[in-house]
Amino acid sequence: APDIPLSNVKAHLSQLQSIATANGGNRAHGRPGYLASANYVRNLLNAAGYATTLQSFTYNGATGYNVIADWPGGDMDDVLMVGAHLDSVTAGPGINDNGSGSAAILEVALEVARQGLQPNRHLRFAWWGAEELGLRGSRYYVNNLPAAERARIGGYLNFDMVGSPNAGYFIYDGDDSDGTGAGPGPAGSAELEQVLQSYFAGIGVPTRGTDFDGRSDYGPFISAGIPAGGTFTGAEGIKSSAQAQLWGGTAGQEFDPCYHRSCDTTANISDTALDRNTDAVAHAVWTLATAEQPQPV
Ligand code: PHE
Ligand code: ZN
Ligand code: ZN
Ligand code: CA
Ligand code: ZN
Repeated sequence: APDIPLSNVKAHLSQLQSIATANGGNRAHGRPGYLASANYVRNLLNAAGYATTLQSFTYNGATGYNVIADWPGGDMDDVLMVGAHLDSVTAGPGINDNGSGSAAILEVALEVARQGLQPNRHLRFAWWGAEELGLRGSRYYVNNLPAAERARIGGYLNFDMVGSPNAGYFIYDGDDSDGTGAGPGPAGSAELEQVLQSYFAGIGVPTRGTDFDGRSDYGPFISAGIPAGGTFTGAEGIKSSAQAQLWGGTAGQEFDPCYHRSCDTTANISDTALDRNTDAVAHAVWTLATAEQPQPV
């Protein structure tokens, strides 16, 4: 899998920051900064050769939008989806939550196009609206898919907060292999977990499981029985001393001290965490989408 340039990912974060600054300081559902964010992402994908859809829905009296981008080709009966929520809370610009996941998957999608990747599986990227109001965009998408379309989705990878300044390296625990007893994902989720684990093992960074607790956009997918996975670098939780030993950073402090606050700006990012997680997205996409057949030369 390619090494995705961190500078490209950070350039997207700067653009999302500028969009927030120009629109009252946020990119929240129903606010102009959200639609501007959606258009930013969509225009880049269109120019790269994606077939995109701006799917609108209504929540709380406001129109929300999902950006759905299909990379032409691959087996339409075996779709790999990769998603991130694009909305912020109203309190701030939402750069770690979730400009980080949005920019990471955007740059991987653009790298797919630059390389002219011809995957076996059909690749579909999604940027969700109104996650912060209860997973509204992703739920709308899953609930409005015809049953036959839903059955064609073989897996969903979710990236929500992947540049936390006091980062942990968490991978959604698809099979309760960490033994917390909490919700394993649908059958097939463990494979997604293992592919992400293999990336971090390869760079010598230890990871830990995090449970599917329903707090991000994988929720509607696992409810529909679709295998899910993804990574997370921590939100309002406090890094323990054991975790600080494992990963560095500051014990006794939040993984993201600016979670849902006005200070979630471009300054609120660990470049190292963002870089590693973006490369993990690329590793997972290349591994999972191109697995069975060699690429044509
Ligand atoms: N979805 C949460 C938010 O956007 C953040 C979060 C992601 C929490 C993943 C737990 C696990 O605020
Ligand atoms: Zn949030
Ligand atoms: Zn989030
Ligand atoms: Ca578990
Ligand atoms: Zn596991």
